[in-house]
Parts: sequence; structure tokens; C-alpha cells
Amino acid sequence: MYRRHRTPLFLLISFLLLLGCADPVADAAPVACEPGLVESIDMDRTMGHLHVLVDEIGPRVASSHAEREAAEYIARELESYGYEVEIQEFPRDQVVSRIEVVDPADLRIYPATGRIEDTPAAEYFQLTGEEGITADVVDCGEGACPAEAEGAIALFAQGESDAGDLLAHAADVGAVAAILHGNDWRRHLTSVEPDDAVLPFVTVNVEAGDALREAGGVRVTLHVEFFDTSQNVIATRRVEGDPDAPVVVFSAHYDSVEQAPGASDNASGTSGMMEIARLYANVETDVELRFAAVGAEEVGLVGSRYYVSQLPDHEIDRIVANFNTDMIGTAGELQTQLFVNTLDGDNVVARSARVARDLLELPEESMRAPFQRGASDHVAFHDAGIPAANFIWRDPETIDLEPWYHQPHDTSDRISRDRMRTAMSVVLLASQQVICEAGAFRDEVPGATTDPTEEME
Ligand code: BES
Ligand code: ZN
Repeated sequence: MYRRHRTPLFLLISFLLLLGCADPVADAAPVACEPGLVESIDMDRTMGHLHVLVDEIGPRVASSHAEREAAEYIARELESYGYEVEIQEFPRDQVVSRIEVVDPADLRIYPATGRIEDTPAAEYFQLTGEEGITADVVDCGEGACPAEAEGAIALFAQGESDAGDLLAHAADVGAVAAILHGNDWRRHLTSVEPDDAVLPFVTVNVEAGDALREAGGVRVTLHVEFFDTSQNVIATRRVEGDPDAPVVVFSAHYDSVEQAPGASDNASGTSGMMEIARLYANVETDVELRFAAVGAEEVGLVGSRYYVSQLPDHEIDRIVANFNTDMIGTAGELQTQLFVNTLDGDNVVARSARVARDLLELPEESMRAPFQRGASDHVAFHDAGIPAANFIWRDPETIDLEPWYHQPHDTSDRISRDRMRTAMSVVLLASQQVICEAGAFRDEVPGATTDPTEEME
């Protein structure tokens, strides 16, 4: 009902006209159409969120303690801006492993146990409980443990041997747990048959294994735990007295893959969305605003699909647009173009992004909008019939993401403040137009039809 399609020129003209409506009184809340809002973006605050998520909390694997901790941090922040905040839980079975290095303390290892799809975790994994197993790591090469492996954690480089055979050997010599390292950890993991998982074990990438070996004398606490719940954080600002107001939904996933602290993917999009939420908190608008920090994206868009699945039809009908921020801050040398990914070609989000680009006087080649691509949470919104787009930096020549995508070196020092600011400015200014437009629609006579030439395109 609110899904009206307008040309970019129309959007630009209407936006410029709407600028005239901005309240000139200095301390009044700015109306949503106030273009100066982008100047209030606080990058220190934004990077502060990113540091908490990446450097204080670390990898935020679906359903893990760390993912929950991140959700609680995001919820607290959004609540402090004045939003009504809900932590929406949903079921998600996941085996999560963690290695805390006890000594030397500066060594960081991100393991990758994960969950074997459609298989009850208990059949595959010996769990350690919350306290984990603390022991020295002993190098067992490609399959021959020394006598010191008794009571220790056996470290194997996985060459040709079957993972199950390595675990059996470790158990024979009295090791208490094992670490398997190699390039293809997913294959190692899935090659462990249920009867073979005789010890708690984790798989790590080859660099992490080499680092453990080279450091020598490393002592770790190894955890393999089972969790069954992930969560979304939904912050809402309703329009007082208008339960049928149009809605704009911002989304960003705050979980990360195993083995990666997820700075670019996607503490960047989460932190950017949180700052946009702060900026909108006191803005006058007759559009309902929602900020959805979703969990469990990396295991198949589970959080966003759950969120959308819980919306009644009449609420889905109120949603005019979804702005999804995922990987908006990479410092990758070649990732210089902001892609606005949609699944339905040009839509209101892509169009408003182009207008924002022009208003910000960014060069035309700085953005590709629209580009046909899924693989993030905008898919869940699109599938429900909501115009949706994902904002992401890519290489304009090859379309590649940064080389550390889903790697342990997706760290906060590989984030560019400038790229973050640019992407956030585009999303903020673009969303402002959609919000101004959606508000403007409501003043029209109910049932009045749109000019058909505007609807075509
Ligand atoms: N942020 C990434 C990658 C991404 C987003 C790629 C948008 C392209 C467009 C996202 O978190 C991711 O890794 N997605 C997965 C798919 C998902 C359904 C598990 C991927 O691309 O492999
Ligand atoms: Zn990802």
C-alpha cells in the first residue's frame, strides 16, 4: 500500500523541497528530512562499538556465549538511546569450540568446530562442559605422539591420515583432547565418524596450528560446548497514536563465522547501524523505525528469517523498506565500490541510495546500485515482498570481497573509518528520503491511485 515507485529525479526534487520543511529552531528535534544529520555521525562512537564487538568480545559464533554477550551489549546501547528493545530468541543447535590460551597470553587461536548439519551434536562430539579442559599442547606431528602427550592436548597436522585415526591414537597415548590443524578443516571435521569422536577435539586452520607449534610449551583451555539458542535484538520506535504507520527496518548481522573475529563481517555493519539508530532516536518522523541486529546469519540467514517469519501479514505490509548493512568498513585496497545488492533489480532502497550518492557529491563510480546479489539478511526481507538491499564494499573489477573475508585476520585494524563513514552517510541519507517519502504518502487521500507512469519504470 505504501510501496510507491518514484524516479530518482522525483526523489531528488522532493527531497530538496522537503529540506525547506526543516525546523529552523535550533534546539527542536530535527525532522527526518533534515540533510544535516549526516554531519552528526560520530565515528569515534561507531569505532568504539566495533572494538567492543571485535576486540573485547571476539568471534561471535551463532548460539555461543560470545554471540549472546554481543546481543546484550547492542540491546543496552539501543535502549540507552530511548528505543523499546526486545531480545528475540529462536532455536539454533550449534556446537561451539573455543581455545583460550593460558600461556603465552598474547597468542590468539580461533577454532572451528561448528555443527554438523542435521546430525545430533551428541553423536559427534565429546563436550567439555563450560569449564573446559586445561592442559599443555603437545606436538604429535602427522600422527605420532611422544610420551608427554599423556594428560596433554595432542596437536596434529592433518596430512593424509583420517581424522578418526588421529583421535584414536591420541586416546591410546592418554591425551585428554586433540587439536587438528590443516587447510581444509571442514573436511577434517566431517571425516570424523560418530564412533571416532572418542575425545573432545577442535579443528583449526593451518596458520593457527603452526603458531601453536612454533610457540612451543603452550597451555590452553579447550572448550567444546553445545548451545541451542541464538537471538535477534529488535529496537523499535513507534509513532505515537498511529499503530498503522509505515515502517522502515534497518538490519545487520552481529554474529561471525568460526575462526574469525568478524570486524568487517559484520561488526562494521552492526556498529554503523547502531550509530544510525542513535542519530534517528530524537528525529521527528511519522514513520516507525526498527533496528534489527540479527544473529545466526552465517549459518544460513537464520536470525533474519526467524524475525520475518514472526511478523504478521499486516506488519509486513507496513514495511516500506529494508536497509541491510553487511561489510561496510573494509580497508581492503581494491574494495572501492559500494554495492547496493538487491534481488528485485531497481527498488526504492537502490534508488534512494543513488540520490544519496548525488547529494553527497560522491563520484558515480563509487557505487553500484542496484547489483543482483543475495547472501545476506536482505534476502529474508525480499522473500517476504519487502523492498530490500544490502550495502557492501567490493572490488569493482572482479567483484571480490577483501582477501581476509571469513578469515582469522578479519580484525579491527583492517577497518577504514572513511569507508565506514561513507557507507553510513549513504545509508542514512537514503533512508531519510524513504522516511520523508513514506510520511508524505500518508497525507494523500486514502485509496488515491498513483500516477501510472511513476509506477512503471
Ligand atoms: N557478509 C557476508 C557476505 C556477503 C554479503 C556476500 C552480501 C555477498 C553479499 C555474509 O555474512 C556471508 O558470508 N554470507 C554467506 C551466505 C550466507 C547465506 C551464509 C556467503 O556469501 O557465503
Ligand atoms: Zn559472512
